[in-house]
Order: sequence, then structure tokens, then C-alpha cells
Amino acid sequence: MAIGRSHPAGSRGTQRRSATALRTGLPFHRYSSVFICDLVTTFDQELHRRLDAIREQGVHRELRRVDSPQGARIKIGGRELINFSSNDYLGLANHPSLKTATIRAVEKFGAGAGASRLVCGSLAPFHELEAALAAFKATEAALTFATGYATALGTITALLGKDDIIISDKLIHASFVDAARLSGAKLRIFDHNDLNDLETILKWATQGPRPSALGPRQILVVTESVFSMDGDHAPLREMVALKEKYGAWLMVDEAHATGLYGVNRRGLAEALGVSDRIEIQMGTLGKALGASGGYVCGSRALIDFLVNRARSFIFSTAPVPAAAAAATAGVQLLQSDEGSDRTRRLWQRVVELKSEIPNLKSDHASAILPLIVGDEGQAVATASALRERGFFVPAIRYPTVARGAARLRITLTANHTADDIVELTRALKTLDFGLKTSD
Ligand SMILES: Cc1ncc(COP(=O)(O)O)c(C=O)c1O
Repeated sequence: MAIGRSHPAGSRGTQRRSATALRTGLPFHRYSSVFICDLVTTFDQELHRRLDAIREQGVHRELRRVDSPQGARIKIGGRELINFSSNDYLGLANHPSLKTATIRAVEKFGAGAGASRLVCGSLAPFHELEAALAAFKATEAALTFATGYATALGTITALLGKDDIIISDKLIHASFVDAARLSGAKLRIFDHNDLNDLETILKWATQGPRPSALGPRQILVVTESVFSMDGDHAPLREMVALKEKYGAWLMVDEAHATGLYGVNRRGLAEALGVSDRIEIQMGTLGKALGASGGYVCGSRALIDFLVNRARSFIFSTAPVPAAAAAATAGVQLLQSDEGSDRTRRLWQRVVELKSEIPNLKSDHASAILPLIVGDEGQAVATASALRERGFFVPAIRYPTVARGAARLRITLTANHTADDIVELTRALKTLDFGLKTSD
């Protein structure tokens, strides 16, 4: 429908609108395009006002079209840029094995899944992926979701309700905050990686009266293992000890750790030897595994329960089967010799960049290496200057990170070469943008 005022106020259009409404007794807007135009205009005016406020705060975002696959080089606006922005840590998103698996799955299972897996039957690629994930993570079972976001939402709302308590690290991913709100449980936040604060809240949570009629109140501690915007690690061993001391459950999001840590590259929980003491191990399939989706690994009972109670799983069409096939190929590749070569290459690049740029915030081994800039506008200006020089590095700002904590989030992948690191280093050194030193 064309948008615009076609009649001045009080003109023929208004009269016709009134006549129609009087005749039918229905509201004006059901019949009059003029009135709908007015509504749309006011609606858009309000949105423009809000967008202006977002721009004034320096946190406006826009989509940048990419005309190439994800990789160490991407094409934006007709130019090739060296890409330091993706979570495709092992460079699998455009890997021939994953592409072949995707194509074969399309040929065998088609493009769409038809409905929720509980409604129209559950296609074989999802079962193959879940078996591969459970074997990889050494758990009894696994369940996959369309996204990591849907995984957090479905799992937390299935397990907890209004009488329960969720205790979360301050820097937890937004999907957990949204999930906690939706569950109706009380959400308590502990300072980032602060075990004393966590214990204080656990003490408080275990002291309150129990909602006896409904059984014991449940307490769930949630954390990421490797934090998405800082790259630092959660003290998982100590957290496991605390949740056991206070009888809480623990859910760990290994989104940025799966594929990178531990002898079998299962994640940080494996590296720290606590996998089998974590009730809910979650992760994503769209980062080191090169595909898309989210998963929960755990006991058979947990998975059966989620199939029956996780609303984002039950009330949503299954992802395209080819996405599951791609992720299965990612899990297999990860465990192959090529997988270990790729992981080794990635860590080599991390060492090279860290040795050149001391301002990088990197207390732990991580492929996420943020340069803290502070001011939102300055972060955007720096990202844009880097683009001019041929590098794609995102400026991460509020609300993804706290106000005044804007940063360039540099991520490295196994597909970067030593020369890519040299070039990025050179560009960063020529840009005088007043970097805060790491804290
Ligand atoms: C730590 C963490 N958990 C969960 C998610 C959500 O995963 P997905 O992108 O698959 O929805 C993300 C975002 O990418 C993340 O960084």
C-alpha cells in the first residue's frame, strides 16, 4: 500500500471514512487507507524519534551486506577485507566437508523440516547430530535447538519457575537474561567471576523459606565458560564445588569454548576436569562447529524432560535438516587430525597477535581478543578507520557490553595466516586511538 497523505484533513477522504464507519459500525481504520496512512506516519515518527535517541548515544547499528562466504577474507561493498569478526574459530563455515554434507542432506531430506519434530516426525539428520554430540561430549544424550538463543530460552524455562532462583554471572549472554525473565524465577547476579559474591548469594538463596507444597525450591547457577566479549574464563572448578556445597544445579554455556579446549576439544569443562559434575552443558553449533543451532548435552532424563517441556523446541518448526548435517560434519571434523591441526594453527595466531599488541585484554588463552576503547563513538570511528585500511573488526557497544566499555572485538580463526596477523598489527599500530591499557 502506498504510504502518504492523499487528502488534506477534513477533505473528501475523511468524509468517506466517516460514512463507511457509520454504516458498518466498525472502526475507521478497517476501511480507510487515509486513516491507515495517518497511523503509519505516527508510528514511523515515533520510531524515528527513538532511532535518533539511539544515534545520539552512539549505539546505532546497521547491517553490512557481505557478498562472499564467511572466511578470513570477506567481500563488503565490492572490496575484500581481512575478517577479524567471526566466531568461526576453526574456519569450518565454508569448509568443503561441511558444504558436501549440507548438499547431500538437501538432496536426501529436502530444504525444510515440515513442522516441529514432535508433530511431523523427527528427521534422521537431527538424530545423527545428537548421537554425535553426545559421543563427542561423553554424555548420555543430547538435544539440538534451532539456535543457541532458543536453547537457553527453552532449557531454563523448562527447568525453573517462579518459586526458583537463578544465579548468574554479570556478563552472561543476553539469551540467559531473557530466559531467566521468561521463567519467572528470581534472578540474582554475581559480580563477574567473583566466587565470594556467588557464595554470598548461594547462602541467601538456601536460607529462605521453601515453597513446600511444590517441593524444594531449585537454585540454578549459570555461567559461560569462555566469555563472549572478553574472552576470559570462568573458574569452573570452584563454581562446581560451590554449587555442590549448596545443592544447586549448574548450567555452563560452552558456546565459545567447544572445539578449542581440552584433550578432546570438548570445551573448558573438559580442560578443567569437571564435565561430569555439570548438570547442563550447553553450546552452540554456529561457532567453532561451523554450522548453526544450539545444543544441550547431559543425562538421558534431562534430554527426555526437555523434549517434553522446552517450549522453544516443542512449539517451533525444526531447523532445516541440512543445518544438522553440516553440524555433524563439523563435530566429525573437529575430532579428526585436521581438526587438531586447525586448533593448533588458531592458538599459534593467538600467540602471534598477543606478542605484538600488549593492549589486548587477554588474561586467558582465548581466540577472542578485545581492544578496550571505552567511548562508543571512538570505537565506531576506529572500526571504520580499520575498514578503510582493509580490515573488518566490529565495534562492540552497549547494550552488548556496558556503557563506556566499547571495544574492538578481534577474533582469530584457523584460516588466518601469519601475514594476516602482521598486517593487522601494522594497521593497529598506525592508528592512534588512545587505547586504554588492559586491566
Ligand atoms: C555465549 C553465547 N551463548 C549463546 C549465544 C546464542 O547462540 P546463537 O547465536 O546460536 O543463537 C551466543 C551468541 O552468539 C553466545 O555468544
